[in-house]
Amino acid sequence: MSHESGGDTIRYKREAAAWAVDAFFRPGMVVGLGTGSTAAFAVQRLAEARAEGRLTDVLGVPTSRGTEALARGLGVPLTTLEEHPVLDVTVDGADEVAPDLSLIKGGGGALLREKIVAQASRRVVIVVDAGKLSPRLGTRWPLPVEVLPFGWRSQALFLESLGARVTPRRGADGAPFHTDQGNLVLDCGFGPLHRPEELASRLDARAGVVGHGLFLSLTTDLVVAGPGGVEHRARSG
Ligand code: A5P
Repeated sequence: MSHESGGDTIRYKREAAAWAVDAFFRPGMVVGLGTGSTAAFAVQRLAEARAEGRLTDVLGVPTSRGTEALARGLGVPLTTLEEHPVLDVTVDGADEVAPDLSLIKGGGGALLREKIVAQASRRVVIVVDAGKLSPRLGTRWPLPVEVLPFGWRSQALFLESLGARVTPRRGADGAPFHTDQGNLVLDCGFGPLHRPEELASRLDARAGVVGHGLFLSLTTDLVVAGPGGVEHRARSG
C-alpha cells in the first residue's frame, strides 16, 4: 500500500528539478527548458538562482508556449534554436521511465518540440518523481502520437492496425486538443511495449504522423526523487 500523497509527489518533483539545475546548469550555458509540472520547478529554480545573482547569463530555449510564458513571467532570458542550434543541456520531465532510461513523453502535449530540443542538446537530464519509474514502457501510460489534422482518422486506423486502442485527446473544455503546432494528439494504449524501437520506426516512417512520445536513447541523465531522497543515474555506455 502506498503512503505517498499528492503533496509528496509535488515535493519529489520539486526536489528532482532543483537538484538537476544545481548539478548541471553552469554560467554562460544555453539550456533547454522542458514542459510540465516537474520541468516548471526547474524554471523556478533557475529564476531563484538568478535572484541570488547566480546563473544570470544562462539563456533558455522553451519547449512550449506554456514554458515560454512561465519563463518570461519569472524574468528568465530566452533565446531560440535558430539562434543557438546546439544546447549545452536540457532539463525536462517524463511520463514513464524504463530501466534503460528510455521514456514516454507527451502527457502535456509538447512532445514534438521537446524531442527537437532534446536532439539538439549535448546532455538531456530527465527529472521525475519515483512514481514515473516503470518496468517497461507502455505499462503505466499510453503513447501520445501527434498527427496532422489532415486525414487524422486514417492515422487512427493505422495506429489501431499496430495494436493501439486510440483515444483522440481533448482539452479541459472538451474540445479537441491542439498542440503548439496546431496538430492533434492521439493517445495510444498499446500496453507494455516489447519492441519500442520497432514501433518508433513504424511511426517515424508514416506520413501524417509528425511526432510520438517514444524518447529512445536520448536521456543522458536521470534524476529521480522519492521517499529515499534524490538519486542520479547516468546512462551507461
Ligand atoms: C510534456 O509534453 C510531457 O512530456 C511532460 O514532460 C510530461 O508530461 C511530464 O509532466 P509532469 O512533470 O507534469 O508530470
